[in-house]
Amino acid sequence: MLITRPSNRMKEVSSFHVMDVMTRAKKMEAAGHDIVHMEVGEPDFSTAQPIVDAGIEFLQQAVVHYTEAQGLPALRQKISDFYLQQYGASVPIDRIFITPGASGALTVALAMLLDKDDEVLMPDPGYPCNSNLTTLFGGQPKIVSVDAEDDFQWTREKVLSHWSDSTKGLMVASPSNPTGTLISAERLSDLVETVKEKGGFLISDEIYHGLTYEQRANSALEYSDDVFILNSFSKFFGMTGWRLGWLIVPEQAISAATRLMQNLYISSPTHSQYAALAAFEDDAQAVLLARRDEFKARRDVLFHGLEELGFVIEHKPQGAFYIYADCSAFTDDSYAFALELLEQQGVAVTPGIDFGRNKPERYLRFAYTTSRQQIELGLTRIKAFLVSKGLV
Ligand SMILES: Cc1ncc(COP(=O)(O)O)c(C=O)c1O
Repeated sequence: MLITRPSNRMKEVSSFHVMDVMTRAKKMEAAGHDIVHMEVGEPDFSTAQPIVDAGIEFLQQAVVHYTEAQGLPALRQKISDFYLQQYGASVPIDRIFITPGASGALTVALAMLLDKDDEVLMPDPGYPCNSNLTTLFGGQPKIVSVDAEDDFQWTREKVLSHWSDSTKGLMVASPSNPTGTLISAERLSDLVETVKEKGGFLISDEIYHGLTYEQRANSALEYSDDVFILNSFSKFFGMTGWRLGWLIVPEQAISAATRLMQNLYISSPTHSQYAALAAFEDDAQAVLLARRDEFKARRDVLFHGLEELGFVIEHKPQGAFYIYADCSAFTDDSYAFALELLEQQGVAVTPGIDFGRNKPERYLRFAYTTSRQQIELGLTRIKAFLVSKGLV
């Protein structure tokens, strides 16, 4: 008999509930329904033209081979320059790895850092792949509730009170998915110190940097060279499908990260790397910054609209493109609410259950990755839904 049964470890790797919403939304669209998409975690804009042009120019040479496992030196140099300019942090290019998205960066970081049963502290609500990949590499996700009064971010006290003898590291994300909240400079620097005192690793997911609306986000690199930074061309740079991101590692981890890149990926997509060379140039940056301003305008429309309808938003999100709204005035089951809202009014949103076990039934994540017009339409439909149920 041939084995076809996946490993026991796979039982711990969950899929996203939002897929149920997306599958249903796609079926409804195929049947002619008009759907307002506020479930999607990627920019709706097409890739900025200067980036596309650079990609095409490279492809026209028809020589698309592997690059060095670590990525194109010229692209790593641009990223290094970017860190100096944005954060005042000096990062030599041998600490920068070009990866297939932040997903690739997360995979390399966890594969390199985890021994069997090592515990990793991660915030709840948080990005679901963190715990799934930790499990895949034999670690133990220790999922800890972070609260609205702490901006849904870690505090030093919370980290200390959950750190055990088996804890090996901490994950932090600012701006956060799903809440869009930032961690302050002071608290981030405290966390770096705390993890250093404990002798653990710190992985800082900075994928939504660049998409902040009132203040810039701080990088953990501003406080130490010995941290692991995940970042990507997916969000601010608007290149999700090009599958390109980067990982910054401490000096001592360069050899392990290189070996993992070689074994896992050989290299990241070559044409995407050549396209991304254009992403730091002034013409591309002008497009990307204008889009950031548009995200801010959308956030404001959605934020005020949801509040007016009676959703409670404990923190006006300062970054990313999500609003995590408390819908407990209307339901005690946000998953059922999301499915019903889709079914009755054609509005797709993500239920809290996708982001952990911290009161998920109270929350919905609204992504403003669609036009202001569509957001207005979504709000009108949500109002009609609430009226039809006698909830407003
Ligand atoms: C917090 C966070 N980290 C990492 C990722 C992975 O993104 P990518 O692999 O496209 O760079 C995402 C994608 O939504 C995310 O929200």
